[in-house]
Amino acid sequence: MLLREGRLGEISDDVLEFISSREADHRIFEADLLVDRAHLIMLREAGLISEEDASSIIQALDDIDENDLGPGEDVHEAIEAYLIAQVGEVGGRMHMGRSRNDEVATCIRLALRGEILDLMEEVLSLIETIWRRGAENRETLSPGFTHTQHAQPTTLAHHLIAHGDALARDLERLVDAYARLNKSPLGSAAFASTGFPIDRRRTCELLGFDGLIENSMDAVSTRDFILEALSALSIQMVTLSRLAEELILWSTTEFAYIEIDDLFASTSSIMPQKKNPDTAELVRAKAGSVLGSLAAALAICKALPLSYNRDLQEVTPHLWRALSWTRGSTRIMDGCMESVRFDVDRLEKSAGAGFSTATELADSLVRSTGIPFRKAHRIVGALAATGDLPGIEDLDRAGEPLGIRPSEMGFGERELEEALDPRRNVERRDQPGGPAPAETSRMLLVREEQLLQYRSRVGEMREKVERALLQLRGISS
Ligand code: ARG
Repeated sequence: MLLREGRLGEISDDVLEFISSREADHRIFEADLLVDRAHLIMLREAGLISEEDASSIIQALDDIDENDLGPGEDVHEAIEAYLIAQVGEVGGRMHMGRSRNDEVATCIRLALRGEILDLMEEVLSLIETIWRRGAENRETLSPGFTHTQHAQPTTLAHHLIAHGDALARDLERLVDAYARLNKSPLGSAAFASTGFPIDRRRTCELLGFDGLIENSMDAVSTRDFILEALSALSIQMVTLSRLAEELILWSTTEFAYIEIDDLFASTSSIMPQKKNPDTAELVRAKAGSVLGSLAAALAICKALPLSYNRDLQEVTPHLWRALSWTRGSTRIMDGCMESVRFDVDRLEKSAGAGFSTATELADSLVRSTGIPFRKAHRIVGALAATGDLPGIEDLDRAGEPLGIRPSEMGFGERELEEALDPRRNVERRDQPGGPAPAETSRMLLVREEQLLQYRSRVGEMREKVERALLQLRGISS
């Protein structure tokens, strides 16, 4: 084993397997090749390695196939051992002025930023789908709930914009996390930096990072960028889980507001009639797994003294798993929302169920008669207790204990009819952010523009990284 030769004896298979990160290192293999390449080019430019030695190592790097790697504690050791086997002992020159500690931190940041860029695009696509379904349903009345009880009528557009807005904030959290994660720890070596005249800014630039994690001790010790990414993923998964929960609930026979497309449903091995919302259920469950990853990562980091500790190796797999779950869930929800069928008739009938117009009735009483809202609330509350939709005489009777006869105070049949009409309820709620179709149309227009801005922002971030890596790969060996 390359690294043990000088200092330690043989290692057993059992111990090697226990300490190895090889399985998870698959996720940073490509990143490691880029980091090695950038480091070698910098060493060559700084005159720390000869043109000839650098070029033979870089050529061997270009030809590496992951499957050819031999054993090792991690991918860094395995790559170095492979290079030495290929080009001879000059391969051992690559590791001057660095350590696996700054190397692994750099690799994780590099691989993570690629995944976050992909996730941002997946989230954008989901937001676009949800808002588009909203735009198709500006006029579709739907029941609004609090406590899962009918509360007030709203529209499907209003409801869907809400989910899209939550996801837009989730996207912004990813953008914020990206700003802190796309920084270079490379050149910090074990933690004390190095006495070789390396050029940290050059490797930073070659790898497309936006700056340095300056303090070399901080640079190798911190995994706060993982904690921040996992926090953003966790919050996003809570958003997706709440959306999934509604798909599950709304597809039951009891609600029957939607039909999930067959593609996203499963059936039962025994009950032939069953159509189950399994994909939505798994999104709901994976949210739990992602939250668990965040909790695990926080717990691993919380009591570590500076600087590097091997415990840190145990954090990374939680990140990769959480990313896979979140990205998978985002894509599945996109397909689900794209194809879900809304039962518009049923939604509209249900919009007025459970005396959901009671709030507007109280509001209308205030508007027409000038009585204080609390009194109107009491009158309508007394009516609601009877269970039937009220007529004008019922209103007068309910007002009696308070000495109020609405019918003699400007509140007639026409006012009552309007107040009890779910569509009028919705039209009246035209304050900023309300469900009135005119207002949701305005909101959707603003969001269309917002989507374009998000897209160009994410596009710029990706371009910057891709331009740097293209140049790096183009630098000849
Ligand atoms: N596989 C290790 C990790 O993921 C790489 C760094 C090892 N460094 C060390 N000093 N043992 O953290």
